[in-house]
Amino acid sequence: MDRTDPCWLFGYGSLIFRPAIPFVERRPARVRAWTRRFWQWSTDHRGEPWRPGRVVTLAPAPDDCCWGIAYRLAETDAAAILADLDMRERGGYVRMEIELELHAPAGQAPDTLVASSRVVAGLTYQGWPGNRNYAGPAPIDEIASQVIQATGPSGANADYVRDLDAALNALAVEDAHVAALVAGLGG
Ligand code: SIN
Repeated sequence: MDRTDPCWLFGYGSLIFRPAIPFVERRPARVRAWTRRFWQWSTDHRGEPWRPGRVVTLAPAPDDCCWGIAYRLAETDAAAILADLDMRERGGYVRMEIELELHAPAGQAPDTLVASSRVVAGLTYQGWPGNRNYAGPAPIDEIASQVIQATGPSGANADYVRDLDAALNALAVEDAHVAALVAGLGG
């Protein structure tokens, strides 16, 4: 693990398809032993307090991994960017240190790039079980019906799901949970 560069930020949800932050470099990245799950309520972006939407968090999964995008932040800007992101992700997420496996730049399938990977220390936003917006597991049909009904200041919850799915497809990443939810929305 290279601890000399503290400015890698890992996105696995909206931070993949709408980073809206300045960055120096962007790489496909993988975190081992975590999996992406629609187990977090959104009451401020993709839902409202009275009809929350569902957004992703990371759940421990010893035999799985989660692909996303790692952004290298300029050291001079990192504190300000993270302060802004703390606001954006204030719906129950906290910063978590995480080991990131960086891969070659987008445009090439991640699976073909494992040999060229490099591990660095990074940060991500995590919605731990028990946070005030933690929704937890539910059958995929139930999650789909909650997503279909929810919309918030950042747009329709279904668009979050479809934009995430499209971004993962563009990275050639297969995520069965996301794909099952897209199917539950009617494609
Ligand atoms: C992330 O994108 O990494 C965090 C969850 C979200 O904002 O969707």
